[in-house]
Amino acid sequence: MSDKKVIVKAVAKEEAPAAKAAPKKPLYQPKGDVLISVKNLDKTFKETIHAVRNVTTDIHKGEVVVLIGPSGSGKSTFLRCLNLLEVPTGGSITMDGEDIMDKNADLNKHRQKVGMVFQHFNLFDNLNVIQNMTIGPIKLKGESEAAANQRAMNLLDRVGLADRAEAYPSQLSGGQKQRIAIVRALCMQPEVILFDEPTSALDPEMVGEVLDVMKQLAAEGMTMVVVTHEMGFAREVADRVLFMADGALIEEGTPEEIFDNPKSDRLKDFLSKIL
Ligand SMILES: Nc1ncnc2c1ncn2[C@@H]1O[C@H](COP(=O)(O)OP(=O)(O)OP(=O)(O)O)[C@@H](O)[C@H]1O
Ligand SMILES: [Mg+2]
Repeated sequence: MSDKKVIVKAVAKEEAPAAKAAPKKPLYQPKGDVLISVKNLDKTFKETIHAVRNVTTDIHKGEVVVLIGPSGSGKSTFLRCLNLLEVPTGGSITMDGEDIMDKNADLNKHRQKVGMVFQHFNLFDNLNVIQNMTIGPIKLKGESEAAANQRAMNLLDRVGLADRAEAYPSQLSGGQKQRIAIVRALCMQPEVILFDEPTSALDPEMVGEVLDVMKQLAAEGMTMVVVTHEMGFAREVADRVLFMADGALIEEGTPEEIFDNPKSDRLKDFLSKIL
């Protein structure tokens, strides 16, 4: 990630004289092929609440996209549309070129490719850590218990929680629960992980340990779409920041473009309140 920033800076420097005459090219260079393509996405609740309006964007393999915007601007709804926890009312979503809204699309297969981490962890309270992590691979993917356990233990080890494999969620701190929720998502070997305010329910001293795991994942090339109010994380880790207001995608760009050079009044106003 740091290499990329160095390259971007170098290119920006070289192109500086020409940039005066020509329209400025975006600094952001997509990392890989398009993984999820969203076109004119719309979601209306009860025919009157227009939660997502005509959103078009591509998410590339290996990209970290951070979604920001005021409360009620449609961030969660947009995210939930990507794994069809909400069924869009208009537009299209393709993943790996496959139309996931097609009535013949294999929904379960799609959801297996899209991990999700929620604000309130959503662990199964009646299952211990290792059971929480292996139930998906065993029940949904037909993996053997031995193989699922092995992967789960490796992942637990990576986030420093191997000694909590037998613990139940009620015996864990919020930060530990969220780290478990992240490695549980990883157990399914997803192509992308969606995070909906993963640190908002945590005590401040536990935010860092969860963000560290997310940073590690990003550095390893995981495709991530993250709704967060952690602007430090967005600046440091995001390849691209999307700003939503009233259901619409108002502005998108690199963290530098969004935070240091906002164009729309809506974004300027939002940033003045949160930064
Ligand atoms: N299941 C639902 N039924 C009806 N309205 C809904 C539903 N879910 C969301 N909404 C409405 O859709 C709009 C967008 O909500 P959403 O939760 O996506 O916003 P958000 O940007 O995630 O907000 P927050 O930052 O508070 O989490 C809001 O007006 C909300 O009240
Ligand atoms: Mg939300």
